[in-house]
Amino acid sequence: MRYTTLGKSGLRVSVVGLGFWQAGSRLWSSRNGGLRERVREALGIALSHGVNLLDTAEVYGGGLSEEVLGGAVRALGREGFVVASKVAGYRVTGGSIIKGVEGINRRLGFTVDLIQLHWPPPYPWPLCWSIRGLEEAVSRGLAGYYGLSNFPRGLLEEALQCSKRVEPVSNQVQYSLAFRAPEVDLVPFMRERGLTLIAWSPLAKGALAGLREASTTAQRGDRVFRVASGDEVLQKALEEVASRNRVSKAQVALAWLISRGAIPIPGFRNPARVEEYARAADVELSEDDMRVLDEASSKYLYLWGRGYGELRAMRFIPAVVQRLAIAVMGGI
Ligand SMILES: NC(=O)c1ccc[n+]([C@@H]2O[C@H](COP(=O)([O-])OP(=O)(O)OC[C@H]3O[C@@H](n4cnc5c(N)ncnc54)[C@H](OP(=O)(O)O)[C@@H]3O)[C@@H](O)[C@H]2O)c1
Repeated sequence: MRYTTLGKSGLRVSVVGLGFWQAGSRLWSSRNGGLRERVREALGIALSHGVNLLDTAEVYGGGLSEEVLGGAVRALGREGFVVASKVAGYRVTGGSIIKGVEGINRRLGFTVDLIQLHWPPPYPWPLCWSIRGLEEAVSRGLAGYYGLSNFPRGLLEEALQCSKRVEPVSNQVQYSLAFRAPEVDLVPFMRERGLTLIAWSPLAKGALAGLREASTTAQRGDRVFRVASGDEVLQKALEEVASRNRVSKAQVALAWLISRGAIPIPGFRNPARVEEYARAADVELSEDDMRVLDEASSKYLYLWGRGYGELRAMRFIPAVVQRLAIAVMGGI
């Protein structure tokens, strides 16, 4: 495994991590029996391949993902992993963020290494309030470091201006061969400011691994999955590069992100995928491979908007409504 550091923190993380939304979310039909065993098996494989960065959130399965992940990490050895979680963007005051982080640590059974704000606060709440809360969580030792998620360029600049005591180390955004919007404005800025880009949906929910039919609510509701799974040009390019390198399409999609300095956090229900994901760190794409992939995916630079704006709509949904809706659904 190859490693890098998270922002300017010095925290050593693998160049490919793992996402745990699938561990307990109804949207992925993954609450059925055997969940704990599957997660434990997956972490055993991750450990043996040196994958140490694990990502979850308080809203995943209404806390179930954190509980299951925390149990597996404790069973296999806390020191082997860097655990990241997220407080929901409806936590708009410092006090609420601290409460959120305390709940996360209780469910995990240890102090989280990286706490991220899952999405920016809705209007009219001042962003600096959220940043104060995150800074305080770190200063009080409730989290090792803090990062952001789904922050577009303008808000990220604002967040950096708000931070007085502790700077964020990362921004977790949607980024893949089928969703290249971050490259337009976010990637250069983040590089300049020394922030790590953690890439969610690096496989476009399986579409970039070659999956053509959606089988879960999460995949059915995803426009990127829909477009990428039917994109013959992109699928052919993935296939060409994969067969040239004797690897899978998923590994090509992950290696492309790694070569661009992003840390992909692919999700899974099937633990066997973890070894495949880990080995993506060994794939060395040639200049010609990169050219083929860039050409086949260049339409995705602007297809989803001019610059990054995922979850933008959440800014217009009042915090209480967000909290209530997510609670009624039992998490996402
Ligand atoms: N910050 C945010 O707002 C945000 C949003 C979304 C996600 N995330 C994080 O990012 C992580 C990953 O993103 P994601 O959940 O959108 O999905 P993803 O990583 O793009 O795709 C993961 C899915 O691809 C499927 N897959 C992989 N190889 C396959 C193959 N050969 N054939 C068929 N299916 C295959 C897996 O299927 P199986 O399940 O069948 O193994 C898995 O569920 C999440 O777990 C979460 O931690 C963050």
